[in-house]
Amino acid sequence: MSPYEQFKQEGRAEIAAQGADPDLAKASLDWINKANARRYSYHFEWMGRPIIQYPQDIVAMQELIWTVQPELIIETGIAHGGSLIFMAAMLELNAACGGPQDAKVLGIDIDIRAHNRAAIEAHPMARRIAMIQGSSVAPEIVAQVHAAAAGKSRILISLDSNHTHEHVLAELKAYAPLTTVGSYCVVFDTVVEDMPAAMFPDRPWGPGNNPKTAVFEYLKDHPEFEIDKAMDHKLLVSVAPDGFLKRVR
Ligand SMILES: C[S@@+](CC[C@H](N)C(=O)[O-])C[C@H]1O[C@@H](n2cnc3c(N)ncnc32)[C@H](O)[C@@H]1O
Repeated sequence: MSPYEQFKQEGRAEIAAQGADPDLAKASLDWINKANARRYSYHFEWMGRPIIQYPQDIVAMQELIWTVQPELIIETGIAHGGSLIFMAAMLELNAACGGPQDAKVLGIDIDIRAHNRAAIEAHPMARRIAMIQGSSVAPEIVAQVHAAAAGKSRILISLDSNHTHEHVLAELKAYAPLTTVGSYCVVFDTVVEDMPAAMFPDRPWGPGNNPKTAVFEYLKDHPEFEIDKAMDHKLLVSVAPDGFLKRVR
């Protein structure tokens, strides 16, 4: 066994152990709840654009983008564009390292604010980014995304728009089938299910109605996807527990 394989093998055992540690799980969720009350996830940037993510999840996405080497990443929910810029930058690095040379990220948002669009289009990573404005579940938008995905051999999906059960379930039905075997459909904000309802006074989502409930319903009929529990156990602090869906067949 190579030193790298040995290191990874030890890591798998450590990750399984930390994932089975109830004290650590509780401490992680307590931390998430306290940090959420401080709008923790709104305070980071990637290459100068606000990215509404936890650093842990950004590292997780980097690992997936390197491993999968996607030709296309599809993300619903653009906001300020930080996650689009981040994924474009990872595709740029993949290309520099011999990966797909023309890989792109396609973002969809119901409301791409003019100042956000201008900043994204002016960014050095812009050549790898395309954007569509409209609801991610509108049939004409879904058709445009499917047309963009045609012929791509490795596709990664990231769902991070409206976080209601109904919307995310519709997004899963529309986009999860585009996930190529061995790649991932990542569903963000599944953590809402594990948080107190009082955290979401002004939101249509909350416990019982959120991305995780949508994931569980979708997976009932979609055995081609498995939740990557090792990713959850590795991250512990993540907005996407049970949301890293690996397409296994
Ligand atoms: C959480 S933010 C996205 C954050 C971004 N992915 C990041 O990491 O920086 C959610 C975005 O979803 C968009 N959105 C809400 N409803 C939508 C819909 N029906 N279709 C597409 N986008 C939607 C909002 O306009 C908002 O910009």
